[in-house]
Amino acid sequence: MDTDDSLIALVYNEEEEVLKGDSQDLVALQGTIKTASSIYEALLRLGYPTVMVPAKNDLESFARDLSQYSPRNTFVFNVCDGFAGDNFSASLIPQVLKDLGFKYTGSKAEAVRLCTDKARTKRRLLRQGVPTPAYQLFSKAKGGVSLQFPAIVKPVHEDASMGINENSVVTNASDMFERVDYVVSEYRQPALVEEYITGREFSVSMWGNGTMEVMPISEHDFSAIDDPLKSLLTYESKWLEDSFTYNSFSVICPAELTKTEEETIKTTAVSAFRAIGLRDFGRVDMRYRDGVPYVIDINELPDLAPDAGFARSAEMAGYPYDKMVDRILNLALHREGWK
Ligand SMILES: Nc1ncnc2c1ncn2[C@@H]1O[C@H](COP(=O)(O)OP(=O)(O)O)[C@@H](O)[C@H]1O
Ligand SMILES: [Mg+2]
Repeated sequence: MDTDDSLIALVYNEEEEVLKGDSQDLVALQGTIKTASSIYEALLRLGYPTVMVPAKNDLESFARDLSQYSPRNTFVFNVCDGFAGDNFSASLIPQVLKDLGFKYTGSKAEAVRLCTDKARTKRRLLRQGVPTPAYQLFSKAKGGVSLQFPAIVKPVHEDASMGINENSVVTNASDMFERVDYVVSEYRQPALVEEYITGREFSVSMWGNGTMEVMPISEHDFSAIDDPLKSLLTYESKWLEDSFTYNSFSVICPAELTKTEEETIKTTAVSAFRAIGLRDFGRVDMRYRDGVPYVIDINELPDLAPDAGFARSAEMAGYPYDKMVDRILNLALHREGWK
């Protein structure tokens, strides 16, 4: 950092209620608060003077709170994965940070906007030659169907598997439209329908700017379930601790792969990171079929909780939690010429 009175402002979104979708979504929405306190404690242990600045429902009061600090000596560690109950609004935070002149960790508003629109993300990937499953976007429950079944129906602007359960995987047009109707009416946004890729699922965590360091690959182990159409990370499997899938899906890290498979997966993940224009760190999720890693999700701000995938891969790469937090911060400081 450049001055002796330097400060880290840890910015995170504090969600109080569910405004759309399923009432159980609150567990995921409030996960960020817990993650922020883990990062806060890590920053203090690392010796950085740190303040926590929550973003609640009102952008102006957030801007006012932040204005107590000066961009001259305050660097922002941004973990906002949404704003005011809305994942798509996550990009408003880096936008405000920029407008106020603050430098911050992680991706810029444009990249966050792109990542919180799965259809735009896919268009960008396809343009850059990165494999992603075939798709159609529906803003109402009708229209021609050009996709192959099985398919999966997801809200186009969510993450954390919100709106995704076993009924999301469909094998015919009538079930598909029923699910599209659910997404459109409950989540108040278009439904992305994608060809469902049966096959292994990998998460690839990486960090860097320019030269990327790809960390050990994680594989989601679905062997507790026989049906490939039920072998997916639903909301329940990620967040509901008493559920069968939460307790029976596990993660293997590093995944068992041949050298060629590992190379293909890593190269594709880095191409996806670059195609979207991410900064500092990210996690690319994919389904692997017939030697092709199909990118299904790009997380510009992967869950940074100590028990989540990014931290697990970082630990395998030799960065236990505090070192992981320190590295993310330092990548950003370095990128901005602060260190
Ligand atoms: N096209 C697909 N083929 C197979 N499984 C998929 C596909 N898309 C999503 N899934 C499953 O659903 C999960 C959540 O989908 P994802 O697009 O990652 O949404 P989110 O942004 O909510 O994490 C994935 O981790 C995967 O298990
Ligand atoms: Mg995902």
